[in-house]
Amino acid sequence: MSVHPHIKRVIFTDQQIKDRIIEVGKEITNDYKDSKELVLIGVLKGSFMYMADLVRAINLPNTHVSVDFMSISSYGHGTTSSGVVKINMDLKADIAGKDVIVVEDIIDTGLTLQSLLVNLQARNPASLQVSVLLRKKEALKVEVPCKYIGFDIPIVFIVGYGLDFAEKYRELPYLGELKEEAYKN
Ligand code: PRP
Ligand code: MN
Ligand code: MG
Repeated sequence: MSVHPHIKRVIFTDQQIKDRIIEVGKEITNDYKDSKELVLIGVLKGSFMYMADLVRAINLPNTHVSVDFMSISSYGHGTTSSGVVKINMDLKADIAGKDVIVVEDIIDTGLTLQSLLVNLQARNPASLQVSVLLRKKEALKVEVPCKYIGFDIPIVFIVGYGLDFAEKYRELPYLGELKEEAYKN
C-alpha cells in the first residue's frame, strides 16, 4: 500500500485499526446483551469511518441497534471556554429511555465531548457512554468519562481514517502523522 507523500509515518495501519475495532466491538456486544435499544451517535465529520467499522463489529441480534449523527461546532477551543457546543445538525430521533454510545474519532482537549455529553444527558437516555478511537491523554484539559478507547496516542498531528487537517486527508485508510511542511503552508 502506498503512503500519501504528506505523511511522515503511519501510526496505525488499516489492519491494526480493524483488529482493534473488532475487540472494542466485542466489548460493546458483551456489555449491551440485555439492551432493548442501543443508539450509536456519530459526531460528524471525524467519526464517519470509525462508525462504519464499529457498527459492523457489534453483534446484538436481540437489540434494536440504530445509528444517528450530529454535526456540532464547539466554542471554547481558544482563550474563552464557554463549554457549549453549537448544534449544526441534530439527531433525527429521540434518545429518551434508550442506551446511547457516542462515537468519536478522537478526544484531544476533551472539550467537545464534555459539552456534548451535557447536552445529551439532558435528553434523559437510559445510559450514556463514549467510544473513541483515539485519545491524546496528555492533551486532555477536562476529565471526560470514556468507556471504550481504541488507542492512547502521544501528542502528534494525526490524520486519516476520518481525521482531517483543513478538510484534507480524511480519506486515507490508515492513521498517520502529518509532515510539518503539510500544515505550515
Ligand atoms: C475534532 C475531532 C473531535 C474534536 C476533538 O473535530 O473529530 O470531534 O475535534 O477535539 P477536543 O477534544 O479538543 O474538543 P473537529 O472540530 O475538527 O471537526 P471534524 O470532526 O469535522 O473534523
Ligand atoms: Mn470531530
Ligand atoms: Mg477536524
